[in-house]
Amino acid sequence: MNFHILTLFPDMIMSGLNTSIIGRAVSSGLLSIEAVNIRDYAFNKHQSVDDYPYGGGAGMLMQAEPVYLSYESVAKKLENKPRVIYLSPQGQTFSQQMAEELAQEEELILLCGHYEGIDERVLEEIVTDYVSIGDYVLTGGELPAMVMVDTISRLVPGVLHNDVSAEFESFQDNLLEYPQYSRPEEWHGKKVPEVLLSGHHANIEKWRREQSIQRTKERRPDLLKGD
Ligand code: ADE
Repeated sequence: MNFHILTLFPDMIMSGLNTSIIGRAVSSGLLSIEAVNIRDYAFNKHQSVDDYPYGGGAGMLMQAEPVYLSYESVAKKLENKPRVIYLSPQGQTFSQQMAEELAQEEELILLCGHYEGIDERVLEEIVTDYVSIGDYVLTGGELPAMVMVDTISRLVPGVLHNDVSAEFESFQDNLLEYPQYSRPEEWHGKKVPEVLLSGHHANIEKWRREQSIQRTKERRPDLLKGD
């Protein structure tokens, strides 16, 4: 799976995604993450990429042409037109289900906005999906893009090594994950639930399922209502 991130802050993207599990998956060739600097496609000698909005208003807008050229630099190398995701609080809310769908793609372009946004005309021309990571406003699309890359990447076969751990976890069947325990058997007076020491797999599975349901009822009842 190949991610292409169009951004004014490529260092932020690369420093955030080259460690731990994602960094290892990149080194082993399961993923590639390319940060394309939109400023490299500025068309004036000051390398500026933003300007005042027509009609007035606060702040600056990213101009259409550098964004378009940075997109084209990626798209021209690809056989098919890839999905282009614009990170924006106006988008559809990102979810595990959306991540699963996007993990089927071979190529994804993520476009990060800054300042007060991007000239609408280039969005109309290149963007296929608008995605928000939640109902709050960040200063730019980089952190949301990193959230998406991380979430999608761990669903790519081989990235987690242990494929079961991507299978049985929170949001599977719209349930939260059950509680887990490791050694020692007793810590601060708290004992590991007896059933987990029993070695009885059917009972363990039943207990975990019950815990998942109870936990979801308590912490995220909205998931059970199918909201
Ligand atoms: N850019 C600024 N805020 C954002 C959000 N909540 N989701 C995605 N992109 C954003």
